[in-house]
Amino acid sequence: MIVVTTPTGQIGRRLVRHLLAGNGKVKVVVRDAARLEADVRAQVEVVEGSHDDPAVLDAALPGAEALFWLVPPNPAAPSAHEHYLAFARAGAEAVRRHDVGHVVAISSAGHGWPKPAGVLSAAFAMDVELQRSGAHYRAVSPPFYLENLLGQLSAIRERGEFTLTCAGDQPLATIATRDVAAAAADLLTDLSWTGQSDVPVFGPDRFTPDDMAQVLTEELGRPVRYQRVTLAGFAAMRRSQGASDRLVADATEMFAAQDEGIYDADWAKATITATGFRTWCREVLVPAL
Ligand SMILES: NC(=O)c1ccc[n+]([C@@H]2O[C@H](COP(=O)([O-])OP(=O)(O)OC[C@H]3O[C@@H](n4cnc5c(N)ncnc54)[C@H](OP(=O)(O)O)[C@@H]3O)[C@@H](O)[C@H]2O)c1
Repeated sequence: MIVVTTPTGQIGRRLVRHLLAGNGKVKVVVRDAARLEADVRAQVEVVEGSHDDPAVLDAALPGAEALFWLVPPNPAAPSAHEHYLAFARAGAEAVRRHDVGHVVAISSAGHGWPKPAGVLSAAFAMDVELQRSGAHYRAVSPPFYLENLLGQLSAIRERGEFTLTCAGDQPLATIATRDVAAAAADLLTDLSWTGQSDVPVFGPDRFTPDDMAQVLTEELGRPVRYQRVTLAGFAAMRRSQGASDRLVADATEMFAAQDEGIYDADWAKATITATGFRTWCREVLVPAL
């Protein structure tokens, strides 16, 4: 039996469907079972609660062959590091208590980056903590999710632009979350792997944000441009919204590391996944618009 956290999230909900399609026995940990899709709800065992709660994990993990682990994003957490570690400590201790053999977690590309990288460093700290459990471990390590662009639908629709902090003329490493879920499903479906390592997974394109704007222009049939915002401009905007210095640093360190090439080493050796940006635009972004 495979225990899946965040079964209502972008990755978790697709992962559950992959596992069920392969006739896997699945137990999900979910805050509110009513948020599961009805057909999924009918096919899985459910433990209600949050996976940073040891009692919830004690209800979920007995008899588990493997655990899928994802720390929910919380951009309002006072410290990304503490947020990821609080979840990871609870997870690692429960994996030890219940002697779970295999853990597959969603981390980030960029392991080994020598400088602070904000939220990405927090994900790497999560890996270290979970590895201390002694379980066989894979850190599925993706770059920037294409789905992040869904937060900019109104800017694309109303102003014909999207905004990031990275250079418009440098390749931006991306991946579709459906492909992150598929990579996790592959690992959880065949548990013959051993040891602990990260698994970089990247989408097939090497598009710059300017290239992506061009694809969007073609797919939407109207002009879309890429608008770069400086890190200082981003930080000032977040401070004006009341974000703390730590919160601002968690984001700006991550964006700076992305611009300085934190993904490059992994990009050269990554498993390349199926969904290109143009396909993703046709199948996800355009319908959402
Ligand atoms: N965005 C990127 O570009 C990027 C790149 C690399 C790695 N990552 C990593 O990918 C992960 C995000 O994955 P995703 O996009 O699939 O997430 P998501 O769609 O935002 O899903 C979040 C999930 O967490 C659950 N959740 C929220 N708060 C919770 C809490 N306090 N306790 C327990 N469950 C909670 C939500 O369930 P409810 O139904 O209860 O709300 C939902 O199932 C993060 O760990 C992030 O570091 C992101």
